Amino acid sequence: MSRVETLLAAMTLEEKIGQLNMATADRVVTGPVLPGDTEAGIRSGRIGCMLNLWGAEPARAIQRMAVEETRLGIPLLLGFDVVHGHRTIFPIPLAEAAAFDAALWERTARVAAVEAAEDGIAMTFAPMLDVTRDPRWGRIAEGPGEDPWLASRFAEAKVRGFQGDDLSAATSVAASAKHFLAYGAPTGGRDYASVDVSDRALHEVYLPPFQAALAAGCATVMPGFNDIAGIPMTAHVPLLRHWLRGQAGFDGVVVSDYNAIAELIRHGVASDLVEAAALALKAGVDIDMMSSAYARGLSTALERGLVEIGEIDAAALRVLTLKEQLGLFDDPYRRGASSATAGSYEAAARRELAREAACRAIVVLTNSGLLPLAAKSRRIAVVGPLANARAEMRGSWSAAGEPDDPVTILEGLRAALPGSEIVFAEGVAIDGEDVRGVAEAVAACRAADVIVLCLGEAAWMSGEAASRANPVLPGRQRQLAEAVLDLGKPVVALLSCGRPLIAPWLEERAGALVATWFLGSEAGNAIADVLTGRFNPTGRLPITWPRDIGQAPIFYAARSSGRPNNPKDHYTSKYLDMPVEPQFPFGHGLSYSPLALENLSVGAEKFQAGEDVLASVDVVNQGAIAGEATIFLFIRDVVASVARPLLELKGLAKITLAPGARENVRLPVPASAFAFPNAEFQPTIEPGRFELSVGLSADRTRLLTVSIEAIVD
Ligand code: GLC
Repeated sequence: MSRVETLLAAMTLEEKIGQLNMATADRVVTGPVLPGDTEAGIRSGRIGCMLNLWGAEPARAIQRMAVEETRLGIPLLLGFDVVHGHRTIFPIPLAEAAAFDAALWERTARVAAVEAAEDGIAMTFAPMLDVTRDPRWGRIAEGPGEDPWLASRFAEAKVRGFQGDDLSAATSVAASAKHFLAYGAPTGGRDYASVDVSDRALHEVYLPPFQAALAAGCATVMPGFNDIAGIPMTAHVPLLRHWLRGQAGFDGVVVSDYNAIAELIRHGVASDLVEAAALALKAGVDIDMMSSAYARGLSTALERGLVEIGEIDAAALRVLTLKEQLGLFDDPYRRGASSATAGSYEAAARRELAREAACRAIVVLTNSGLLPLAAKSRRIAVVGPLANARAEMRGSWSAAGEPDDPVTILEGLRAALPGSEIVFAEGVAIDGEDVRGVAEAVAACRAADVIVLCLGEAAWMSGEAASRANPVLPGRQRQLAEAVLDLGKPVVALLSCGRPLIAPWLEERAGALVATWFLGSEAGNAIADVLTGRFNPTGRLPITWPRDIGQAPIFYAARSSGRPNNPKDHYTSKYLDMPVEPQFPFGHGLSYSPLALENLSVGAEKFQAGEDVLASVDVVNQGAIAGEATIFLFIRDVVASVARPLLELKGLAKITLAPGARENVRLPVPASAFAFPNAEFQPTIEPGRFELSVGLSADRTRLLTVSIEAIVD
């Protein structure tokens, strides 16, 4: 027998159930705080896992309690939400997705893992992989946007970054693919609300990033709070037991979300904790995060015959196996081991990475030529409630990032433009009705050559439990903006946000509009790098930006319908009161070097299904400075047994071009790109015509497209 099997055989029922019990240390509160005596639970072996504790010393102390003061000395599993950085804070995931750069995503996760492990953490509750198409949903900020292909590349990169090459290494942490499944499609965009999506949507949109995470070796999976059509994910036997454990062959740990097992009672599928515990265990949930349903209900469930001891043993064995894979039995103190490591945060290198990631996350939405700010911009007014909002720059889920850590937008601009006279006025608060500061802000703008208007949300206005029915600028920011715009001076408007904010009026009037999201530790420096042209912007939207929230859910990979939108034909899919087109399409983002695509070609007009296809396209830099192009590759299966989306992202290429340069870029299209889930949800390539398109965004009016035909023998 293996070490963990031998250990399991020596454990009492209470000790086995203890390994399935995760309690919070409450150093940070990420859910409803429930009563509990943590230290007594650890010493008695009734708590085997903890969350929300970090720091080499506290981690070592609590680990010593488990290892040296319990009967079997089983180390604790310490988990924490290291979502976009631990101490060094990187851009929120939605922003980082805008980089379309898997190598970058892996690098930031690696640094996050090293910093978290230095603080004694062995597991992160990340990456969050919930595809969503609804900006009302606050957790849009935490995920990789609307597209399953993009989310899959993000999943792979993050799992690799967090887990490294060896899960037992002192700098590796177990990743957790969350929130399984379709949590990003709640009714009304309201967090935690019921989800009702088709099986086809599950297989085409929501499962792919989790499949990618599992293929990358993700150690754990976290089910979402949501139900799908009345079956809560925490008790979802078809998806957890049959798909995840069966079809996908996942034998890692499933950790519930915070108190989610007990919440099966509120869902209305369990009458008490005993039934809730039984439902979750039988569905394949191993660790009970914070609800104590397992601790308080599993032994009774066993007595009542609602569960079998084999199911408890299997769950406990998976948890013990994860602890062994993490090296916790070999050396429980390996993470956070030495003060030398703990202190050596290699601050400069990590902050440089944070600045690079932040630069690549910034998306220039419009630019009338105002950007980059001309060196002659001697007098700059920096106005608005996000200009000097240091703590807000961290965004939601800021882990161990200190509120006084980030560089503000004002500081970044002052550091980048030492020769300029930069004045600041807040004008209004992020939220609230007080407009007494507007006059002072307008006065500060009167003498300026250019105005940088820093608008947006507070960090808490996106993230968990932060859905907004009308995601517009909060408070009286619009009144401030319009008063400043009425001066008729050049205005660069920046949006610090965790979601697309609806502001078509701002786009119409500002000289430039820039999505600066929440960029983390180096926010101000990165924003200054882009505004001054030190960094030629490369960010592209990972989410469609609606013109009005009434368009949601809105996304580029839509199906045609039998009456596709045609403004000239009344009886087509449209709105009476606005266009169907978004404010900005998926993939949109401006560079300071105008780029163009020409001469798309493919190897042959016919290809054998199952073979890769090679496309190529010329990319031209029509500008006067070097610039990076992101070329998106889309396919469309024109006629199939199931109507296919008009566009599906299946690849991308990046290239940096010198001024005036023309380069031919090859775009390999893997055979799998032409497959879709058939009636049995098995990947299938059907014969017939495909359209292969390339573009600088998903704007269908600006794509280059060729037709090719799949031959199936
Ligand atoms: C929260 C979140 C989840 C997080 C967990 C622990 O409620 O839903 O994403 O990992 O609790 O903080």
